[in-house]
This record gives sequence, C-alpha cells and structure tokens, in this order.
Amino acid sequence: MISKASAPGKIILFGEHFVVHGTKAILCAINKRVTIISEKNKSQNISIKSSLGENSIPISESIENVDSMFKPFFFIAKKIINENNFSNGIDIDIQSDIPIGAGLGSSSACCVAAAASVSNLFSKPEKNQILELAIEAEQTIFPKTSGADCTVSVFGGIIGYEKGITYEIIETEHEFDFIVVNSKKPHSTSIVVDRVNKFKNENKEIFNGLCDDERKLIIQAVKALQKFDLETVGKCISQNQIFLEQLGVSNDQLLEIIKIIEKETFGAKITGAGDGGCIIALTDKNEKEAVVGHMKTEYEAYSVTIDKTGMQVFNDN
Ligand code: MEV
Repeated sequence: MISKASAPGKIILFGEHFVVHGTKAILCAINKRVTIISEKNKSQNISIKSSLGENSIPISESIENVDSMFKPFFFIAKKIINENNFSNGIDIDIQSDIPIGAGLGSSSACCVAAAASVSNLFSKPEKNQILELAIEAEQTIFPKTSGADCTVSVFGGIIGYEKGITYEIIETEHEFDFIVVNSKKPHSTSIVVDRVNKFKNENKEIFNGLCDDERKLIIQAVKALQKFDLETVGKCISQNQIFLEQLGVSNDQLLEIIKIIEKETFGAKITGAGDGGCIIALTDKNEKEAVVGHMKTEYEAYSVTIDKTGMQVFNDN
C-alpha cells in the first residue's frame, strides 16, 4: 500500500517570536503544500528522498546518531515502526512547493505530512495525534519551537495559537489575499529565536512591554479580520513589523522590501523568524496581480490565499 498525505505551509499575521514566550499568535495556512508519499519496504532501512537529495538509515539506528536534514522524518518513521512492531523499513518521498528556509513553514508542513503519511500505513491518523508527533519531530532540530506552525498546518484556516495552552479557529467567510516577497536570504529559525531570547534576558522590561503591546494589537487585529476591515488589519500588520524591528529580527534588505510594497498594499511585515526569509503584505484582491508584477521586477514575488483544508490523507492501494 502507498500512503499519501499533504499539508500546507503558513504565514504568520501577528505574533511570531512573542508566541515562543507565551503571547498569542495569529497564523494562516496558505495554498502552498508539501505532499509526502510513503510505502513499507522489504529492507531494514528507512529511505527518504526529496528535491534536496536522498538519505537512508538502518531501522536499528539510534536517532541521536542521525546527522541529516531529514532527521525529523527519520524520527517519525522510527517511532511509528517501533509502536507497530514492524520489522521492515519505509520509503518516504517528499514533494514540496513551499520554499525552504523562507519562513513559510516548509519544515513544519513536512513534519505534519510525514507524520500523517507514515501513520496512515498502519492505521487511520487522528489530527491531534499527528500534531503531537509532528511537533515532537520538529523538536529534534528546533527544540524551542512554539508548535504554532505545525498546528496551523494540521487544521488549516486562520488560527489563534498560544503555546502549551490552546489554539482556536478564527471563523470568517471572507477571502484574504496576501503577497509574499522572498528576500532569498536564508535564515535559521533556531538562531534568530536564540537571539530574541538573549534580547529578552538583557531587556526584561522592554520585552514585557512589547508582549503587552502585541497582545493589545492582536485583539484589535482579530476584530478587524472578522469585520473584513482590511485598512485596520493592514495598519496592525505594519505596527507588528515595528515591534519585530524592536526585537532586532529585521534588517536593511527586509526594510527596503517593506518600504516599497507598503506603498501599494494595506500593510507589510516579516513573516516567521525574520533576519531573511519572506515579507508578507495584505492586498486588495483586484490589485494583487499588479503588485506582484511590480515586485517581480526585482524580487521573487507571488500571491497566496488562505488554505482552509489543513492536513489531508489520501489512500492509494
Ligand atoms: C517561526 O515560524 C515562528 C517563530 O515564532 C518560532 C516558533 O513559533 O516556533 C519565530
């Protein structure tokens, strides 16, 4: 049996970094997905391939000894093999249209789709179990993850997320259009998160003040999202960017992109860890193609909409 699952990437509208320290974040799943196909094999190996390369480990290998970009997926496969007392290996094929290392949740979506695809080789996966396994897998390479990215990838739509507490689906019948501009400067989420942690430890009062401001901003932003008040949502997005600059996760190149795109959109900001990666801007549906066209003269740019489906599992016997 071949098992196929897919999961969406994400943008963070409000609250990245703050969410690692207990403040709520608002995230959207986007219409860029990863698809993972897995199959039991007759060997004693777990083999993984993607556009980035191929790697294989014996099923007996201890996960601590695995030094590979595929470590989270080896972790998932090993855990499921052990739980099911399966004595052979698994082949995993990753196909993604989410840019890597750009803040669009590629790694989390891969963890979710891999957990769903491999679990489904043994039994029908349940969303909360997949989420737990995906977060555990992501922690093998990024121990401080808030879990926000995996959560929105599992459930789809727009969510409010508080680390270790809960998530809520923000119901809206409206369609939102965003432009994504990729700075093409790769970043390490883990390194930027550590840098913010250092900022917090050295500037406790400023950091706590920013968390309070972010909380208030999010209350205002959620009301505006539900009323489809794009002007106010855009202003909140731009304000969130200012808070992120105060945390030190922006840079001149990102600010330059924001300055250009803000002129034609409701508001723009970093999405994800920052210090590289992507900028998002909230746009009017009728303007999006024109804005993408202008941005494309200098940058990689495209429009995205919200994915309402989240993780999906398909059977192909
Ligand atoms: C990364 O997409 C978002 C961060 O807030 C880290 C996390 O929530 O785990 C920077």
